[in-house]
This record gives sequence, C-alpha cells and structure tokens, in this order.
Amino acid sequence: MKIAVNMLQPEKLKTKTIIMGVLNNFENLNKSEIPPGFEKQLEILLDSKNSDFKGKLNEIMVLYSSMGIKTKHPYRLILVGLGDPQDLFLESIREGCGTAGNLCNDKNIDSIGIIIPAGRITRLPRKEELFLVSSAVVEGLILGAYRFNKYKSGKDKSDFKFENIIVYARSGSDIPSMRKGINYADVSSEITAVARDLSNTPSNDLTPGELVKRARSIARKYGLKIKVITGDSLEQNQMSGIIAVGKGSSNPPSMIILEYVPKRARNPKPVVFVGKAVTFDSGGISLKPGANMALMKHDMSGGAAVIASLAGLAKLGAPVHAVGLIPAVENLPSGTATRPGDVITSKTGKSIEILNTDAEGRLILADALAYANRYEPGIVVDVATLTGACVVALGTHTAGLMGNNEKLLDAIVKLSEQTGERVWKLPLWKPYRNEMTGDTADIKNVSGREGGAITAAAFLLEFAEKYKWAHIDIAGMAWTEKPAPYKPKGATGFSARLLMALGNNIGEQKLKL
Ligand code: BES
Ligand code: MG
Ligand code: ZN
Repeated sequence: MKIAVNMLQPEKLKTKTIIMGVLNNFENLNKSEIPPGFEKQLEILLDSKNSDFKGKLNEIMVLYSSMGIKTKHPYRLILVGLGDPQDLFLESIREGCGTAGNLCNDKNIDSIGIIIPAGRITRLPRKEELFLVSSAVVEGLILGAYRFNKYKSGKDKSDFKFENIIVYARSGSDIPSMRKGINYADVSSEITAVARDLSNTPSNDLTPGELVKRARSIARKYGLKIKVITGDSLEQNQMSGIIAVGKGSSNPPSMIILEYVPKRARNPKPVVFVGKAVTFDSGGISLKPGANMALMKHDMSGGAAVIASLAGLAKLGAPVHAVGLIPAVENLPSGTATRPGDVITSKTGKSIEILNTDAEGRLILADALAYANRYEPGIVVDVATLTGACVVALGTHTAGLMGNNEKLLDAIVKLSEQTGERVWKLPLWKPYRNEMTGDTADIKNVSGREGGAITAAAFLLEFAEKYKWAHIDIAGMAWTEKPAPYKPKGATGFSARLLMALGNNIGEQKLKL
C-alpha cells in the first residue's frame, strides 16, 4: 500500500476514483476543485430542489463521468457526507471516510484520491490540525475497509487492501504536517487491525499458548523484546492470580512481557501498559449463562490492544521507553478449577478471597500491576474488558476511566477525544475501596452488584499504589454488534490507538505527567 500527499490540481488528479468529503448542503464547496467531467452533475446536486444528496454525515453517492473513461481524468466520484460544519471534528471525518472505505471494500476499489473540505476544524489547535485531520482521513478509509475473513472459504476469504491512497492538499497547506499525519495513520490503522485480528480469532485457535506465539512473531516483526513467564516460573514470581484463574484449563497460562526500547528514549521512567488477556471467559465454576457466552472470545481485547500499541510505537520509532504486561489465561470450570471461597496470596502479601470465579480479570491484572513495580514506572495504564457493570453504566459508546492521578486521567480523556476512542471518568473514592474488605482474607474479589465497574477498579487500586495509574474498562467497547462506519461487526481494536497516542505524546514530550 502506498499513501501519499499531493497538491490538489483538479486537472492532474491521478486516480480513476476520487472521494470527496462534502459538508451539509455543499457548504465550503469550492467549484474550482470539482474534478473535470463532473461539473454538470454537481451543478444539479447543488441545486437544493433537485438534490437527493445533502451531505449528511455518512450519506454516500457515486457519480460516473463518461469523460473519465476516454481521458486520463477520473471516471468515478464518490461523494460522502461529513455533516454539519459546526459538528465537524476528527470523529466525523473518520466516520465519513470509514463509510467510503466500506464502499471501496465492497466494490473492490483499491486506488483512490481523496479531497476533504476546506476550512478550519473547530476546537483543534492550528498547528496540529492538518496532522490530525489527515491521519483521521487515512484511519477512516483503512479501518472502514477492514474485514475478518480468515475463517470464510472461497471468494469470501479474499482480503481487500488499498493499493494507493492519495490525500489532496490545497495550496498553502502545511504539507509536512500532512505527511506526518498519513504516516502516523498508516501505522495506527495497521496496528488496530492487528488488535482486531487477535480479538476476532476464536478461542480454540487463540489459547494462551497461541497468544504467546503470536506475541513472539509480532515482537520479531516490529522489533520488540519479549519475555514469557510460564509454568513453574509463574510460581517463582508469585503470580497467584494467573495460576488460580488458569488452573481450570488444560491450556496453561502465561505472563507476556513486551518491551520497546527506542534508540533515544526521552522519558526517564518507562510507560507501562497492562492488558487483560482472558482468551475465553466461561466464568469458571461461577459459570456464565449460555446466551452470548461465545462473545467471551473477545475477553483478551485489552491484551491485544497493548500488544498492538507497542508494535505501533516501535514502527513509528517513537522516542518512548514502553513496557507491555499481558497476563494470558483461559477461564474454564473443571475438577482442577478454583472454587468460590478459595483464598490466594498475592506477591504484595495481600490475601484475596475469590468469592466469584467470574471476576477473574482483576485477579490476573493484580499480578501484572504488582509486577509493574519493578520498572519504577512513570505511569501505568491498564485496559481490560473487566465488568458488565461498566456497560450498564456507560453503554457502548464510552469506556470507563478510573485511577489515582487526576492529571493522567484528564490527559487520557483529552487524547481519547482525538482518537475517537472515548473514555470518561468514574469516581474512585474511599467508600468504594472499603467495600472490597474481605471477611476471611484481606480483600475479596467481588462485592455487591451496585457500582460494579468502580468496585472492580477499587480492587485493582490495592495493587497500584506505588505509581501513577489509570484503568480503562473497555467491556462495552472491545467489540460491536452493530456495525459503525469504520468498525465492522466484531472486534474494534478499541484503545490500541489511544495507548499508542499516549506513548507517542509522552515520548515527544507533548505530554508531561
Ligand atoms: N469478562 C467479563 C466482563 C464482561 C462482561 C466483558 C460483558 C464484556 C461484556 C468479566 O470477567 C466478568 O465476568 N465480570 C463479572 C464481574 C462480576 C462477577 C463481579 C461481570 O461483569 O458480571
Ligand atoms: Mg469473568
Ligand atoms: Zn472476563
């Protein structure tokens, strides 16, 4: 795939297909920018009485020109709506371009040029605008065209890939920023696909052991260090949570440790990302109901996002020292499984009463958070499909964010607006913490149903006291049942781009925490 920025000269468009982003009622349309051969058709559409295309967000229409068939000019113009100029933001651009990306996949159009509307995007600082806008354009196109066809046979199996994407720039645009933007998006969309592929893979083909293998091959491909703690060495490292959750399955658990060491890191203390990777969550002895249990193949999405984000930082060459901790287990009921009521002792010395074996994510995350201490990290961020309660609280449009450092949390909220992976803060005050006090042991792994997303975080906080920490509950975001413009049904790769952006901003010292 080749992605490039070219100057916009309608006489010299290079691809046979041009995508044009259009605002409501063609606002900001510059008639001199219309590709040759399409002037008359656009004139008809511009007349509001005749138009059946209004430019509403994600509206799409394809026009053809006979002139483009005989000449070097384009013959296909895809108009895509970007909606109200007042609402135009990175996410509407990503969505509109996602809608176009979907169509490109469906019609197998792999070589395109794209023209986006002139004018300023509200709320963005001028010096970052073109970088962010051009990266949103490319992310939308590529992620919109993503499909997971590996398990289909015949014609459906074939994978679509863009050969050629040209983003057109107007004279006076900051071209270097746009080039940086498309290069960034080339990486960010590639790694989002990496996360989606892992998460979409069924659990019989993605056991903890297979996740280790895939992490190894990703580490090799992108240039990451990898270390795996498994078998007896889990014992030696006192990873009692991973052992307790994993022991009901014949597929043994592991702790995957990835590290990206750049040539010149600008952060003295490493950034540590932690990702829950339960390759299948049946609930264990506290068995889940059968309906929708199949979706629990996605319960490793946090781990997938962490693996992907580190790969992305390495591919970017970001000047940030980053570590990924991915506890990988399968949660199954069996004669060797952990029972409700069992007590384990964590590396930190705290004892944990496992009252519900379906609250397994926090047990394996506790091991990773305790292990993170050895890096004396600058910050630690964990991502996990942790609680159904978070989905009840926030629905499927926003992930829950909790932690022990307001500055870090606010930085994440702000970045999440840019990447379109929205997160929002929930409180983590003392009374929630008190709820987790155990009867038999120091703490218990569940309390009541109320405030379940927060009490889960309160449990994690017990293991994350020594550094600045944020926890993102992605239970409602890791996959989607309703396809959206740049998110087909299935895994979304949620938080891979957010973690990559966080790491990159820290490396580039745009963010000081
Ligand atoms: N993996 C689930 C959480 C989940 C549920 C993610 C639905 C995505 C969609 C987690 O391990 C779990 O089972 N949590 C329990 C916690 C409870 C036992 C306190 C839950 O949410 O029901
Ligand atoms: Mg569970
Ligand atoms: Zn789970």
